[in-house]
Amino acid sequence: MLMSILKWLFLALLAAISLMVVGCSTVGLPHVSYRPVETSASPDLLAAIDGYSEVTTAEQWTTERAPYWLNVLKNNIYGTIPEPITAETLSRDVIATDLFEGAASLIEVQLKLTIHDRDYVQDVHFVVPNTKGPHPVILGAGSCPNDVTLPFAGIEPRPDIAFPGYCGMNGGWQKSLAHFVFGRYIETPPLEEIIAAGFAFGAYYPGMIVPDSREAGLAALSEINSDLTDEPPAAAIGIWAWVTNRIVDHIENDPALDAQRIITFGHSRTAKSALLAGAIDARIAGVISHQSGTGGAALQKNDIGESIEQIPGSYPPWFTPAYASYAEKQASLPVDQHALIALMAPRALLLGNSARDQWADPQGSFAAARAASPVYKLLGAPGFDAVNLKDFQPDAPLAFQFREGTHGITPEDWGPFLEWLTAQFGEK
Ligand code: GCU
Repeated sequence: MLMSILKWLFLALLAAISLMVVGCSTVGLPHVSYRPVETSASPDLLAAIDGYSEVTTAEQWTTERAPYWLNVLKNNIYGTIPEPITAETLSRDVIATDLFEGAASLIEVQLKLTIHDRDYVQDVHFVVPNTKGPHPVILGAGSCPNDVTLPFAGIEPRPDIAFPGYCGMNGGWQKSLAHFVFGRYIETPPLEEIIAAGFAFGAYYPGMIVPDSREAGLAALSEINSDLTDEPPAAAIGIWAWVTNRIVDHIENDPALDAQRIITFGHSRTAKSALLAGAIDARIAGVISHQSGTGGAALQKNDIGESIEQIPGSYPPWFTPAYASYAEKQASLPVDQHALIALMAPRALLLGNSARDQWADPQGSFAAARAASPVYKLLGAPGFDAVNLKDFQPDAPLAFQFREGTHGITPEDWGPFLEWLTAQFGEK
């Protein structure tokens, strides 16, 4: 009895100290202004370059310049992205029909993915409204396996896959602490609200193919890279994007889901891969890239937020090795992240950010969206017209969302996400 009381006192003390530390560091984090900073993004995406003339037509962009920028991005940042060999659906089982008092069903899908001659298995769990479909679907890349992300019985843990340590903290006070630090929706989105808005949600952990951990991630990549010859080495963010695109292969043949309205969603590291997935696959109609930062939507040459020096050092599997060579000379990169945003044009893209998250550089994402705007216009879509970071425009295909607070996913994020999703993809 005494031991048990002491244990609880100790845990309560630990939680209180953690909350104090987090609270103090939050107040100490710099506050990013909602007023845009004038930053010019380089290079100009449409100017004459490397023997190509200036881009003045949509066709020139689509057939010549977009593939050119994608190549530059792959060679210098993301590495080789595997061939788009169509995924094979191994199984599709409806494992529940009574979620949220009968409002939704849970469908478990297993896919066989092939990179060169190697086969992999990828799980996806779709939470689908029980109303008449097919439904638009939000594909959410999780940083943890699905049995952690989704709060439903019947999702078997996969003991054979590697995942970050924090994924194991899925109970009790640790979970409350994680929600306090990173927001209520950090691992599980507001599924009931998503269903009520008419959207399905597909959860997947792309770390099943390349785990999000240093040793296991590098080991998985070295297998994949052993099949490459002249190409730049593949890296985790590029593989995660490719996994997303393979799930799109399945959705094209799933009667419950609308292949014309596929939206990829990711936060932070998976926001980088969700955006890359959209950039390389025109079947993806929209992307929500939330707090994607360096290697995502934020400009890298502006020297704000996480630097190229910091990122490959901390997360060696994420990017192709050439990327690290730009440490401390980011200005010499032959491309910047406005090119990644422009590859989404004219499709829908929402960039989410928050005021106490300078690490992810909200100003740099805003400037990148502005610099990609001419490409949206060239392709016949409205440009990026937000006048400042708080100017959320749900009707705009290229839109920006900015809230107070820190890095994480909160109700103040999913409110605007659903408003934008409904305006872009809801039943008219
Ligand atoms: C780190 C990393 C970021 C990343 C973030 C996350 O902070 O430096 O680049 O976006 O983790 O995924 O939460």
